[in-house]
Parts: sequence; C-alpha cells; structure tokens
Amino acid sequence: MTLPPPHPLRPLRLSSMPPGILPLLAAAHRKARERGWRCFLVGGSVRDLLLGLEQKDVDVSVVGDGVALAELTARETGATPATTGRFGTATLLSAEAGVCLDFVTARKETYPFPGALPVVEAGTLADDLARRDFTINALAVPIDAGGFGSLVDPHGGLADLEARLVRVLHSRSFRDDPTRIFRAVKLSERLGFTVEHGTLDLIRQAVREGALATISTERAVRELLLIMEEPNAGAMLRRLDGLGALAAVDPELAWKRRPEDVRPLELEQPDLSPQQRRNTCLAAIAADYAGDPQGAEALARRLHLQANAVRLMRDAAQLAQILPRLGEGEMQPSEIYRLLHGLDIEAIAAYGRLATAEQSPLAHQRLTLYLTTLRHVKPQLKGDYLHSLGIEPGPVYGRAMSALRDALLDGVVQSSEDERRFLHAWLPAGGLPAD
Ligand code: CTP
Repeated sequence: MTLPPPHPLRPLRLSSMPPGILPLLAAAHRKARERGWRCFLVGGSVRDLLLGLEQKDVDVSVVGDGVALAELTARETGATPATTGRFGTATLLSAEAGVCLDFVTARKETYPFPGALPVVEAGTLADDLARRDFTINALAVPIDAGGFGSLVDPHGGLADLEARLVRVLHSRSFRDDPTRIFRAVKLSERLGFTVEHGTLDLIRQAVREGALATISTERAVRELLLIMEEPNAGAMLRRLDGLGALAAVDPELAWKRRPEDVRPLELEQPDLSPQQRRNTCLAAIAADYAGDPQGAEALARRLHLQANAVRLMRDAAQLAQILPRLGEGEMQPSEIYRLLHGLDIEAIAAYGRLATAEQSPLAHQRLTLYLTTLRHVKPQLKGDYLHSLGIEPGPVYGRAMSALRDALLDGVVQSSEDERRFLHAWLPAGGLPAD
C-alpha cells in the first residue's frame, strides 16, 4: 500500500470535483436558493478535496430539508434517487460521475445514553458540524453559484489536516459512539495521519471501560467489514487488535498475522476489489482455526456474518490445514482436485492470495490451477453412455465418472474416443461394476 505523500492542502475549487457532479451541485444550489435554504459540502468530501484525494461519496448538508432538496435535484437533473435514510438523509446516484451524492438535513444529535443511536432534530450548520466525529471531518464550504464560498472551520479542522492529526471534538465522543474507535484507526491508517495523543488516550479509556459492549455486534461488525475493504486493512486490523478493540467485539476475534505476513498482503491488495479484500481478511482471520472449521464457523455466526461469509470462514479454516500438503512434493492434478473439490470458491481464491503472502508459491500455483482450470474439467461422456452399455444405474455410475474425470485431469485421456476406451477398460468384461 502506498500512502498518499504528505502534500500541501489544495485550494477548494469546484473544478477539482468529479465532472459529473458539477451539474448536480449547481442544481442543488439553485433549488435550495428558491426555497431559502443553504447547502454546504461537508465531512469527508471537504477533507478529501483539501487533501487532493479522489471523491468517493460527496456529502451535502442542507440547512433546510435534505430529502426534499435531493428529490428536487433529481427531478431537475435526471439523476437517480438511490435511497432515503433514517432522518433527513437521501442519496442520489450520478452514473456519469460514478459517485453518490449524500444529502443530509443539518442536524443536532444527542445521545440519551452511551452507545445509543442518537436522538436527532433539525439544526444549524454549527450543530451539524459539532455532532461529527473528528475535527478533519467537521469542515464545511457553502455551495454557491459557480463555486465554493469560504471554509467554515469552527473546530480547528484545517490546522489538524495540516498537522495530519485525527482528533475528536470532545472527550465523550467514543462513549457516545464507540464505532468512532474503528473510524479513527481507519482514517489515520488510510491517510497516513497520527491519532492525536489525547484522542488515543480516550480510545484506550473507552475500550478499557467497555464502551464497545454498549453497541450491538452488528454495528461493530459493519465498521469492521468496511475496514476489511480498505487497501491497507491489515495494518488497521493489527492496530485495532493491539488496542483490544477486536477482542471487545468477540473474545476470539484477533488479527494474529505478523507484520511480515501482512506486508505482502497489503502490497497485493490495491489490485483487488473491495469484496476480494474483505474475503482475504476473513480468510486470514479464519486461518487461525486451521483444522477447526467449526470454530471458525461459530465465530462467523457470533459476528452475524452473512451465510456466504460464514461458509468462506469455515472453508478457509479447512484450507489452512490443507495448505502445507499443497505446498510440497509431487502431486497429480487429480489429487489437487480431490483436496479442494467442494470447498467454497471464494475461500480458495482468498487463500490463493494468502498463500502467496506466506511465501508458498507452489500452493499458490496449485490453488490457481484449481480455480482457473481443474474445477472446470468434465468428461464429455455422461451416465447415459453407461446406460447404453446396459449397466444398471447405481453407485457405479458415480465411481466410473470420477475415475474418468481423474484420468482427464491427469492427461491420461483426452478425446471422447479416449474416454470411451478408458471406460471400457475400467469396467470389467461384461460391464460389471468395478470396485
Ligand atoms: N460521521 C460521524 N460519526 C460517525 C459516522 C460519520 O461524525 N460515526 C460523520 C463524519 O463527519 C463523516 C460523515 O459523517 O465525515 C460522513 O460519514 P462517512 O461517509 O461514513 O465518512 P467519510 O468521512 O465520508 O469517510 P469515507 O471516506 O470512508 O466515506
């Protein structure tokens, strides 16, 4: 993973936004003005714009009605309204720009008790910035006709961006919303920033005092899965493990990879899709359950992962046990097939990436061979050919077909004529089933 090099902050210019977004922002501004509302670019968008980073989602805060403004903007521009969220939030999808525009009604949030979902009411821009997680996410710029107005920075976000620090706005932040523990580590690792030392103390204190037990496992795991999609997820998980934040989600959840295991994993990851990165992380966690697929499955279930991720972790634990065998000595393709057949394809693919990371080129090669070639090998002759020979249907059909597939995999037979010859030789004279 190559972190963005430290660079001076960029001027806030509309021209730095993805081009397809500009008509949407212009329409939002026009519609807001007609109704006497104001709209601002906020949060991660301002942060990333100042850092000169690519915009994934564009956050717009509306002092007025965010959902209504999203609808009006969609009608005016033909953009697709994607979703409407809990309170005053709506998302527009710009296919052209390949980004989402998130509208939120400027709001004030109060937490009735630690870890609770906040009670939300409409508020001012100042309220909307004060409810946020970190100073570098509490910046706003007004969207004006043809450009941006001046930066609104009530919490010293610009200075922290310059100093490359992740800092909370107040000391209750992690108690109010413990998911910010994950977000602080994610953001600092992603940007190459430091978690400001007072903020780090607050994280340690929140973990020690059991803040993560005040939120549901689902909420914590949602953040963890987002982290697993990041290019340098390994470093993030290692840090969270060191802070005790993984064990606070589940006592068995750990990131035991050593830095030298993680490094190649990170180096490989930029080419992967977010989902492939997540699968690789889940497989890496499950690798600690080598030979105990039930243990990995139980952990995945306690984390409320979806069925495909549960399967992936279970089979990754099985693969962790098979890996040493795959990584040494001579092996016929049919043997590779038998070892891997029936295991989850995503787990095998994730393990192919881990096997390289663990310097097992042979295992990597064999896993890749299985994924790209061996699993697709099928005889041309089917059971009806055996039927035509007058063989009674029964278990012998399965055995004959597996023997034929093994012969194909190992290159013993190639053409359909070879297949026929092989079957005749395999079946004893008179077509009796062979054992
Ligand atoms: N936010 C917050 N507390 C949270 C989640 C979000 O204060 N627990 C605020 C932050 O101001 C954040 C904004 O909501 O910038 C948008 O949230 P999100 O899209 O999750 O974060 P981004 O900062 O945009 O980060 P990313 O680049 O990962 O999308």
